[in-house]
Amino acid sequence: MARNKIRLGINIDHIATIKTNRKTSYPSLIEAVKIAEDSGADLITVHLREDRRHIQDQDLKDIRSVSQNLNLEMALTEEMLGICLQTKPNFCCIVPERREELTTEGGLDISGMTKSKFNFLKEAINAMSKNNIVPSLFIDPDIRQIDSTLESGAKCIELHTGTYSDATDLDHREMEMSRLKSAAEYASDNKIRVHAGHGLNLSNLSKVCRITQIEEVNIGHSVVADSIFKGLKRAVQDFRSALDND
Ligand code: PXP
Repeated sequence: MARNKIRLGINIDHIATIKTNRKTSYPSLIEAVKIAEDSGADLITVHLREDRRHIQDQDLKDIRSVSQNLNLEMALTEEMLGICLQTKPNFCCIVPERREELTTEGGLDISGMTKSKFNFLKEAINAMSKNNIVPSLFIDPDIRQIDSTLESGAKCIELHTGTYSDATDLDHREMEMSRLKSAAEYASDNKIRVHAGHGLNLSNLSKVCRITQIEEVNIGHSVVADSIFKGLKRAVQDFRSALDND
């Protein structure tokens, strides 16, 4: 049976980094959304961080006003939940956040949450669902975390592919691939939808896409890096072709 087309989420945080670092009005994030969507992106992903190191609050509003399908990544805080409910993205991926990190390092530790944090997670999932926002939880490929996802009421996860992507040793890479496969199977058997992201590029994407349960990938760093040499349009088109021709 032919699998459904995998949705391509393009994360434009790094474009915002250029704009924010120099406090300029360019490069235009609105233009980036339009080019990405016209070139095959199914959704636009942005991470509004608590430290606002790239996307700013106004950027989020501007992006919401032009994007067809918006996926907001955010930490699990009162402030972010308020912004999410006001912005009404189509999807919201809850991620862990540490101030000093270079990027999102590791998934949410849902099984290790305090009772009050876990209750707040359930509240957030509930509030988003009532507002037609599909919540997903960014987790490592770990069965315990999927069991906790089930308890939280979330029906969607994004599997952290960073450890797989960073593995340089072949055995390590295969081990990480098998963790991703088992987690995707377990989630899907339990009626949880599976997305994937982090560290994906044109070289490592195809193996991830062979995991049949994966419905969506979110890609940022490599697509923006590629666009320096070939332009954003071509960079997104190449990821689209890689997904469609796999
Ligand atoms: N998915 C999530 C939840 C992320 O936090 C990130 C990084 O912002 C990505 C996907 C994209 O990762 P990368 O920039 O390495 O492609």
